Amino acid sequence: MAGATATSYTDQIVYTDEIADFSPEIIAEMESHLAKYPPERKRSALIPLLMLVQRERGWIDNPGVNFLAHFLDLEVTDVWETATFYSMLNMRPVGRHHIQICKTLSCRIMGEPEITEHICSKLGVHPGETTEDGKFTVSLVECLGSCGTAPMMQIGFDYHEDLTTEKVDQILSSLG
Ligand code: FES
Repeated sequence: MAGATATSYTDQIVYTDEIADFSPEIIAEMESHLAKYPPERKRSALIPLLMLVQRERGWIDNPGVNFLAHFLDLEVTDVWETATFYSMLNMRPVGRHHIQICKTLSCRIMGEPEITEHICSKLGVHPGETTEDGKFTVSLVECLGSCGTAPMMQIGFDYHEDLTTEKVDQILSSLG
């Protein structure tokens, strides 16, 4: 199968002292999140701000992490330990459509392996890889909280449930 090489989740991180730059509008958006928490609890804004960094930079990169550490008066390691815990935060660039297939028990029992195999062979990648055209990344993730409609996957912010291979084909062909 073609596609970028599947490697560990954090192996493409390049550690530098570079600090990301954000526009005044984005800084104002960050400040608005920060204002929801007491001044001594800046760390509470970390997840919404990580989501914002991801939205602006496409993924959680080292300069983005350095920025948040300064912005929130945290150690860089504080930011990394939160960022690397959640599968909704990408530790490397992903394709235009990030397909996250739930691999936990209910989905596994209800057909996740067949769905994963179908998607991967259709796109020519392994889990963890991005298609050569940068359109799709396929990831296997832990429970997404939709166990009653297993098997399921998340693409971007949308949930797709009660999956069959036919349904997967329809979903993939609808994505531009
Ligand atoms: S086990 Fe797949 S959503 Fe919970």
